[in-house]
Amino acid sequence: MKQELLNKEIDRRRTFAIISHPDAGKTTLTEKLLLFGNVIRSAGTVKGKKSGKFATSDWMEIEKKRGISVTSSVMSFEYMDKHINILDTPGHEDFSEDTYRTLTAVDSAVMIIDCTKGVEPQTIKLFKVCRMRGIPIFTFINKLDREGKEPLALLEEIEEVLGIESYAMNWPVGMGKRFLGVYDRYNEVFIRYQGKDEEERIPFNELDDVEEISTHPTFIQAKEDFELLEEAGNDFDIDKVKNGLQTPVFFGSAISNFGVEMFFRTFLDLASEPQPRQTETEKIVPKSEGFSGFIFKIQANMNPAHRDRLAFLRICSGVFERGMTVTVSRTGKTIKLTQSQQFLASDRETVDQAYPGDIIGIYDPGVYQIGDSLFDGNQNIEFDEIPTFAPELFVRVEAKNVMKGKQFGKGITQLVQEGAIQLFRQYGTESYILGAVGQLQLDVFEYRMKGEYNVEVVYNIIGSKIPRWLEDQKVDTSLFDSRNILVRDRNDQYVALFDSDFSLRWFQDKNPDVGLIDIMEEEE
Ligand code: G4P
Repeated sequence: MKQELLNKEIDRRRTFAIISHPDAGKTTLTEKLLLFGNVIRSAGTVKGKKSGKFATSDWMEIEKKRGISVTSSVMSFEYMDKHINILDTPGHEDFSEDTYRTLTAVDSAVMIIDCTKGVEPQTIKLFKVCRMRGIPIFTFINKLDREGKEPLALLEEIEEVLGIESYAMNWPVGMGKRFLGVYDRYNEVFIRYQGKDEEERIPFNELDDVEEISTHPTFIQAKEDFELLEEAGNDFDIDKVKNGLQTPVFFGSAISNFGVEMFFRTFLDLASEPQPRQTETEKIVPKSEGFSGFIFKIQANMNPAHRDRLAFLRICSGVFERGMTVTVSRTGKTIKLTQSQQFLASDRETVDQAYPGDIIGIYDPGVYQIGDSLFDGNQNIEFDEIPTFAPELFVRVEAKNVMKGKQFGKGITQLVQEGAIQLFRQYGTESYILGAVGQLQLDVFEYRMKGEYNVEVVYNIIGSKIPRWLEDQKVDTSLFDSRNILVRDRNDQYVALFDSDFSLRWFQDKNPDVGLIDIMEEEE
């Protein structure tokens, strides 16, 4: 393919995730974006708690029962001459590890904040991961049709709690019942709120002529706030935005589809095109010739009718062509990529060609692991590892029926490769120990072992532990016992599961020479 055409395809790609605390409006906003892209025809098709319809991502019964989105999926579509890839992330905090991994595959993030609640705990956690990776963050403050916190207070909260500069791209005039509309600073128009799906645009300089707005006490108050912001607020700085140091803030109401289109268009204008990815020695730029990508997610049995296993590949450079042969860097093995799919909101379809920034699903005959780098030709590319996050909750696990040992082993191996849960073997006894971020992850594991591998599992609760990876693999095993447990992770690295903060500190005092690693901290 001609370089010029490749460059054009790369430049028009926008790959992002939407992060938020549950209930802030992620599903509602995503749905509006899909409507703009003509991917769905009516609202309520992505997730209908009430309508009884469920998103493609809601493929597990357990999700349906609990009404939560457990697994992430990808949605690709065209809008305004841009090729958009939205990576959905599970809202439930027990699945934050899945979300963290997804964030390695995006070039920017949209953070939704509920104006009635402000910055919430799950937002803070996810924000930190974006920050750590230098991902540009765009903020959508939602639910302006309700009485919420004052706009200036919300900006202050973002700056203080999250520690990022903010720049209001628009300014709300009132909220709740007094919500009149927003000043669009970027396009210099006033957008009038008239309820659902209706917007009237009035250029700034003609506003004085519209008396019912310009003389409204709410408008006069908002104007004062706005003038204060103009004088004392931050200046817009696109370089800071691109480096994740300033967040453009948009106010709107996803449910009324108000301010959403303005947000989306401006976001697409300002958000970065596919960015280079780091290996140990170099940065791989998207416009380089050779093909490369990495796997950030593996999902088995997405469609019970197919019993398939898909690896999600983020393309980092070159062109993907179906049927091409690539090398898996971890194993050095070559593989022909004949089955490749792209994701539409409600469907998957075969994709013959894809470009940097795109996420495709490739058929996994059991050869991939999360974090694997793939490349073609004589390159030798190994992208930086995807960090593993320390689990907090541990259980011993075995099959209820000992005769099911084989399926049990197969199920565990596959679900662990998928990254659904972390597996450890206890030193000495070799018993299986699972590590999870939260209880729900264990519930899903149990459910899937039964549903997909026909094995009932029994848990023996170990409880919360503080895992620390041991730097040196020559370990004095006598330092550990049944309370501070020594285990090995799936890569055979030693990990100590400490009983409490106190035990950890005590151990460190007694054994200052034993290097302990907390993976999350190491990345920071
Ligand atoms: P999530 O994916 O982030 O968890 O949030 P979701 O979009 O499901 O929205 C959570 C709730 O907030 C939903 O109400 C939704 O209708 C409501 N919501 C979203 N955007 C807005 C908005 O701009 N204004 C107002 N007032 N509400 C909004 P629910 O009653 O929990 O669910 P449903 O039964 O309406 O689906």
